[in-house]
Amino acid sequence: LLCEKSGMEKVFFANSGAEANEGAIKFARKYSFDKYGEGRSTIITLVNSFHGRTITTLAATGQDSFHTTFGPFTQGFKYCPANDIDALNEMATEDVCAVMFECVQGEGGVNNLDYDFVKAIEKLGKEKDILIVVDEVQTGNGRTGKYFAYQNFDITPDIVSTAKGMAGGLPMGAVLFGEKVKDVVTAGSHGSTFGGNPICAAGACSIVSRIDNAFLESIKEKSEYIKEFLMNIKGVKSVSGMGLMLGVEIEKDAKAVANQCLEQGLLVLTAKTKIRLLPALNISKAELDEGLNILKEVIEQ
Ligand SMILES: Cc1ncc(COP(=O)(O)O)c(C=O)c1O
Repeated sequence: LLCEKSGMEKVFFANSGAEANEGAIKFARKYSFDKYGEGRSTIITLVNSFHGRTITTLAATGQDSFHTTFGPFTQGFKYCPANDIDALNEMATEDVCAVMFECVQGEGGVNNLDYDFVKAIEKLGKEKDILIVVDEVQTGNGRTGKYFAYQNFDITPDIVSTAKGMAGGLPMGAVLFGEKVKDVVTAGSHGSTFGGNPICAAGACSIVSRIDNAFLESIKEKSEYIKEFLMNIKGVKSVSGMGLMLGVEIEKDAKAVANQCLEQGLLVLTAKTKIRLLPALNISKAELDEGLNILKEVIEQ
């Protein structure tokens, strides 16, 4: 099912987003090791990215605040400012095997990547055999209005990781492998006791099979509705994000607004200085209106 939706060739099932990313990192490195030998294991990730809370995915995360307390961390990551094509090209030296990124940075502030920046990553892939690894843990499974967010950028990644909503709240992650990488995943090179267990897999089958074009269209419509509503609130400066993953830049302190919303029965997140909205993809129009009106009242107060 996932291969049908994504155009990828093979899937490995894990139990969380961080574990899926561990798999993505391992096989990006193995592709390079098998083909070129040692010395080409560096992965470029982006400043303000977030890839998980294991030692290696913390190292992959491009935020200094995650690089304290738990060291020593896994080596072999360098961090490129998002949307800086010159910096990207400069960093793409001979030791680099992959670029790993979120198409919309979630924890890092709901920052959209530019179309041209993603295309520059694709170009590096073609010219230097640097793998395109997309972290779709938060953006995947319909969240941005496409099945995967990379489908908004007209690219075909080599490796995709996903998790979160995929099994409707049951713990499941997946790493998807494209044409180039599919044979790198050999028996014994990776494994997981609970990965792909029948209970979580049944949950995932139920969810993934229901994310069809009509449902994706409804996500885009709700997104437009929310954006228009938000831009008419006094005190809202801008709205970023895609689909039902939106960041709201406001004049007030985001944490204080989130706390006030909670008191009124509305749960919103923050990301850096923004309010972050990640409603259930099947939220009804009435529920949306109820939530948006609380948010408006708190922001305008
Ligand atoms: C982009 C991204 N990658 C990885 C993770 C880690 O996923 P998990 O908490 O399932 O390990 C998250 C979680 O917030 C995420 O947003």
